[in-house]
Amino acid sequence: MADTKNHVLAIDQGTTSTRAIVFDRDARPVATAQTEFAQHYPEGGWVEHDPEDIWRDTLQVAREAIARSGVGAAGVAAIGITNQRETVVVWDRASGEPIHRAIVWQDRRTAKLCAELKAAGHEPAVRAKTGLLIDPYFSATKLAWILDHVEGARERAERGELAFGTIDSFLLWRLTGGQVHATDVTNAGRTLLYDIRAQRWDEELCRLFDVPMALLPEVHDNSRIFGHTAAGLFDEAIPIAGIAGDQQAALIGQACFDVGMAKSTYGTGCFLLLNTGTEAIESEHRLLTTPAYRLDGTMTYALEGSIFVAGAAVKWLRDGIGVITHARETNDMATQVPDSHGVYMVPAFVGLGAPHWDPDARGAIFGLTLGATQAHLARAALEAVGYQTMDLTAAMIADGGAAPATIRVDGGMAANDWLCQFLADLLEVAVERPVHLETTALGAAFLAGLATGVWADLDAVRATWARRDCFEPRMAAADRERLVAGWQVAVAKTLTTG
Ligand code: G3P
Repeated sequence: MADTKNHVLAIDQGTTSTRAIVFDRDARPVATAQTEFAQHYPEGGWVEHDPEDIWRDTLQVAREAIARSGVGAAGVAAIGITNQRETVVVWDRASGEPIHRAIVWQDRRTAKLCAELKAAGHEPAVRAKTGLLIDPYFSATKLAWILDHVEGARERAERGELAFGTIDSFLLWRLTGGQVHATDVTNAGRTLLYDIRAQRWDEELCRLFDVPMALLPEVHDNSRIFGHTAAGLFDEAIPIAGIAGDQQAALIGQACFDVGMAKSTYGTGCFLLLNTGTEAIESEHRLLTTPAYRLDGTMTYALEGSIFVAGAAVKWLRDGIGVITHARETNDMATQVPDSHGVYMVPAFVGLGAPHWDPDARGAIFGLTLGATQAHLARAALEAVGYQTMDLTAAMIADGGAAPATIRVDGGMAANDWLCQFLADLLEVAVERPVHLETTALGAAFLAGLATGVWADLDAVRATWARRDCFEPRMAAADRERLVAGWQVAVAKTLTTG
C-alpha cells in the first residue's frame, strides 16, 4: 500500500566513510549504518579510492539501515544519493568493472597540466561556462589522466565502451544493475565539462580537456525517479529518486531555499554555499559559481567557497601524528588553553582551495616555541578551520554580497561547541546549529521524498528545519584583529604563488 511507504533511505557516500540513514516523514533519522573505508596514497599528493570498496560498503550500510529501521524495503518510498563530489570513476559498460581506482577530489596529480592550461590563457573561457577555475580539484583532468594512463582506454572510450561518472553516477549504475547512466546538475557542474548556464555538456570544453563525449552520463534535475534498484539487491525494487553532490545536499537539508541563505559544512573539507537564486553570479574573488539544485527544470545557483581540509586536519592529528585518540577530544583540548600560544597551522595538506587556489602549497605549522603543547596544536587546527571560513565570507562580501545574516553549520565538526563559538566570533555573524546535524543525508532524502510524495513541496521541507543552538559573536574587536593578522602572515608564508 502506497501510504505505508513513508520512509526514505539516504545514502551518503563521503570521502572517508559511507553511511545510510532511514528518515521518517518528520525528517527524523530512525536508523543509521556507517563504515569507514581505505584511502590509498600511491604518491605524494595522490589520493585514490577503490570503487569496489565503495559499492560493497554502500550496499551493506543500505541493507543494515533498512533492517534496523524495522520498516523493511516495503516501507521505503525512495532512495536518495549524495556523494563526495568531483571524484572520478571510469568503468566498462559491458562488465560494469572500473578500469582504474577512483581518483579522489583531493588528488593533485594533474597540477602541472592545470598550470599549463592556465598559462595558455584558457581559464577565463572555462570560468565563464563552468563557474569553476582550472584546478586539479575538478573532474576533467583526472578523467583525462585515466584515459591516458590505462592501456587502450582512450580508444575504448572513443568507441563508447567506457562510462565516466562521479560517485553518484557509479552507484546509480550499480544500483540499477547497469540500466541507468545518469547524474544530476550539481555533480555535472563540478566536472569542468558542463556549461552551467546552457545546462548541457559542452563540446569545446570536452575538446580542451581531451574527454570523448561518449563517456558522459545524462544530466537530470535533482528530484526525479532516476531508476529502480535491480532485482535481488533489496527485498523489493526501490526507486532512486534524488541525487545531489554532498555540499548541495547539505544546503537543501539546511532548508536554505531563499536568496542570501548560507550554510557551512564541516566534513573532510569545509564548503560554504550561499544561495543566489536563479542568477549565476560570477565571483571576482575566486569563489565558485555552482548549481545549487534544479527542480522542475528551474535552476538555482550558489556561490561556493571550498576549503579542502577541515576534519581532515583533526584526522591527521589522530592518525598521522597521534596527538589525539578521538576527534571529540579537540573540543576539551582547545578549551584547556587560553589561546594557541602563537601557534598557527595552515592545513594545506592537499594545496589550498578558495580563495587562494594554490595546488602546490603544502601544510605548515608556524610559531612553535618550547612552550607549545599538544593542546596548542589541537587548538591551532580548529582555529585554522575558523580562519579559512572567515576568508570565504570575506570573499563573498568583497564580491558585493552582504554578509549572510546567519550561517547554518553542520557536519561532524559542527558538534564542537568551541569551534562554533570561534566561528561566530571571527565571522561576526550568528552561527546556527540545527537539531539534525546529518543535513547532507537529509538533503538527499528530501530530494527523493519530494519526487515520491513523502514531502509535498519545499514548504513542507522547510517546516522540518529546527534550530538547536545559536552562537552569537562576543569576541572583542582588538583580539579578533590580532588573531587574524597572525593568520594572514602564516598563509602568506605558505603560498607558493607569491
Ligand atoms: O567537493 C568535495 C566534497 O564534496 C567532499 O565532501 O563531506 O567528504 O568533505 P566531504
